[in-house]
Amino acid sequence: MEVKRKPIEFYSTQSVNRNDKKSVIDALSSDFLSRGPKIQAFERKLGKWCDNEWVVVVNSGTSALQLAYQVSGIKEGSLVWTTPLTFAATANAAVSLGAEIDFVDIDPETLNLCPLLLEEKLKEAKKKSKLPDCLTVVHFAGNPCEMEKFFSLSRHYKFKIIEDASHALGAYYKESPIGSNEYSDISIFSFHPVKMITTGEGGALLLSSKNEFELADSLRSHGMVTPSRTGSTKKPMWYYEQQYLGNNYRMSEIQAALGLSQMKRLEEFVKKRNELADIYSVSLEKMPIKTQTILKNNKSSYHLYTIEILDKRFSRDDLYLYLKKNGIGCQVHYIPVHMHPFYKRKGFKKGLFKNSEAYFEKCLSVPLHQGLKKKDVLEVCSRLEQFFTKKRDL
Ligand SMILES: Cc1ncc(COP(=O)(O)O)c(C=O)c1O
Repeated sequence: MEVKRKPIEFYSTQSVNRNDKKSVIDALSSDFLSRGPKIQAFERKLGKWCDNEWVVVVNSGTSALQLAYQVSGIKEGSLVWTTPLTFAATANAAVSLGAEIDFVDIDPETLNLCPLLLEEKLKEAKKKSKLPDCLTVVHFAGNPCEMEKFFSLSRHYKFKIIEDASHALGAYYKESPIGSNEYSDISIFSFHPVKMITTGEGGALLLSSKNEFELADSLRSHGMVTPSRTGSTKKPMWYYEQQYLGNNYRMSEIQAALGLSQMKRLEEFVKKRNELADIYSVSLEKMPIKTQTILKNNKSSYHLYTIEILDKRFSRDDLYLYLKKNGIGCQVHYIPVHMHPFYKRKGFKKGLFKNSEAYFEKCLSVPLHQGLKKKDVLEVCSRLEQFFTKKRDL
């Protein structure tokens, strides 16, 4: 029997209950393990939550990004801008289609791509006739970006907006659920175990029209189309033909069954994470720590609770080790994408995106997930307090 670790040892982890397991067992006992009714049911459920009928579920958030870029027409020679403070997949998926990447730095308060810096960069890019084809914004840690500002810039300068909402299922931008595409063209989610809900591995794209939906649906399955899609009544039922260069990005029925069951718990997950985040915010007030600003009228899903050390005398890596030694799991989100060797070889270097780099030097994500209790959060806070009052035993 595998030894279970304590919930506090994870910065985030899945919550799988008896009903989730039953849903998976039922799927295993059904006639379909792939391409069956659970996929459509999961898509409908996600669509209902996000107020968006055009949902395509896939086998990872990365696959969802890849399809989002393909549907947006990103190809060799396209230019995509995104934030440096994200998981590399946000940029990689565009690069793998032959696109050129560039970055716009973050706002140090919200930790999301800064609309003012974006506007400045767009003005310069227009002078050089080098405007982006697509901007991918990331709701960092589940904190909704300033979507209306991006949207109005996108209509003015004519680029598409993709929301990498890997962290943000369950979050709201003003009245709109993230995924509704109220102020964007396409949104994507990840269902990796640390995310808001899980399917083991998995992801979804939420599109803005029937045409886009049909293209993404075909691309997740080798670019094939069936007579029901082509409208041909002359072809036999078994017939399919390849129209595009697609791939196998399909989610299985087993994963969809878990996703369906997890969706029933999403509201509870968001509530629990928000409650625990409130406890952190109150308890950390007097420590030399800065936390992420959630703008008024928005609701974060709180995928992560991130802290930034303000007092230069304390090192992030010392804090990481101290917490780890005391059985507390934490993680760094993220090494800015342009600082990875792969991107440095493309000409990016340290110093280009100073807000992201400064944040990276001093940031840590402390435990926040639905398996934690109030006492666990208080234990983390008390360890943090010990660290900052120098009762350290490193
Ligand atoms: C912001 C962001 N984008 C994309 C991804 C990729 O998602 P997946 O791991 O499901 O492929 C992740 C996952 O870590 C992420 O955090």
